[in-house]
Amino acid sequence: MVLTVELGERAYPIHVADGGLEGLGAAVAALLPPGRAALVTNPVVGALYLDAAMDSLTAAGFEPFSVMIPDGEAYKTVDTWHALIESLLAARMTRSTPIIALGGGVTGDIAGFAAASVMRGCPLVQVPTTLLSMVDSSVGGKTGVNSPRGKNLIGAFYQPRLVYAGLQTLTTLDIAEIRSGLGEVIKHGLLQDPALFALCEERPEDILALSPDVMRALVVGCCRVKADVVAQDEREGGIRAILNLGHTVGHAIENALGYGEMRHGECVGIGMLAEARWAVEERGCDSEVPVRLRACMERLQMPTRAPTIDHDQLITAARADKKLSRGTLSTAILETIGRVRLERIPSGEILSMMARLEF
Ligand code: NAD
Ligand code: GLY
Repeated sequence: MVLTVELGERAYPIHVADGGLEGLGAAVAALLPPGRAALVTNPVVGALYLDAAMDSLTAAGFEPFSVMIPDGEAYKTVDTWHALIESLLAARMTRSTPIIALGGGVTGDIAGFAAASVMRGCPLVQVPTTLLSMVDSSVGGKTGVNSPRGKNLIGAFYQPRLVYAGLQTLTTLDIAEIRSGLGEVIKHGLLQDPALFALCEERPEDILALSPDVMRALVVGCCRVKADVVAQDEREGGIRAILNLGHTVGHAIENALGYGEMRHGECVGIGMLAEARWAVEERGCDSEVPVRLRACMERLQMPTRAPTIDHDQLITAARADKKLSRGTLSTAILETIGRVRLERIPSGEILSMMARLEF
């Protein structure tokens, strides 16, 4: 199955393949000329999939070489980005050498930012291998790293030339990573696809068992929603901000806890729940939403309570949100399942969202 992100001359395909990475080389060769290609990955994903990616690219006429970055959100830093750039330059890459990001969202965000910045930009290919990166981070062109002051505060919008998701790679993921990805899956369902949300509610066993049909439906459904939103508003001047549902509270938890202490998608899930409760109590939205959301998260064995966090740290983290502008924040308000609106809310209301967290 191939979807398209409709961005005019910069439109690009999202391949959702049932197998592993066998088809990667041919998909890249259909868009980019043969030559050297830099595969960026980490030791965990590299041990599992680097050979398959190299073989597929070589068979399609490329001369791939690999560059390793460390594994984990704690390494999503300027230092890692800088070391990666230096390794790429030392390998004598040129402006036409594609960077192929093989891994989860952390690898995709760091390698994507390197592709945006090395020699002022080279072609980028995203090869997501986690559920979260397949359903969200590999699509849409947000790249970057964290600052001690806040999440993803350093980066660039930089669209890939293609995305290649081999669903079979999900089978080696820790189940906790699947649950984290489900946070972003539920988000897309809540925003624009009630059938996708219903699938999460009705088929939790199949989802947790990674039933191929259901996983394909989740990845394709999410990519469809994301591609549609990004095509309307590539740089988050307006509607793209709906994709931040759950992130205002979620990012604050991540930042206050310290990066890597809790998974991104888990924080987004907990954040969506607090934001949905706030939307009911402060904006009169559909009261079924937080009830169904919590039940769905429980069925999928996702955490619904925030860990104990120092209150002041949480507030400081919330105030560092890069989306705050002149004391207000464009916020996604879930009116009901499948219907969302944006509203600029004063920063004080973020504290009122935080107050809806369950500990
Ligand atoms: P991750 O990249 O840290 O991957 C999770 C873990 O799984 C890592 O240890 C990784 O090495 C391992 N792994 C990856 N693929 C595997 C596989 N197939 N088998 C076994 N292990 C595998 O985490 P993530 O959840 O993929 O991504 C989270 C990041 O994505 C966060 O930094 C978040 O900010 C970012 N994000 C970005 C966007 C965007 O639009 N750019 C959107 C959402 C999230
Ligand atoms: N994850 C939010 C976005 O891509 O806009």
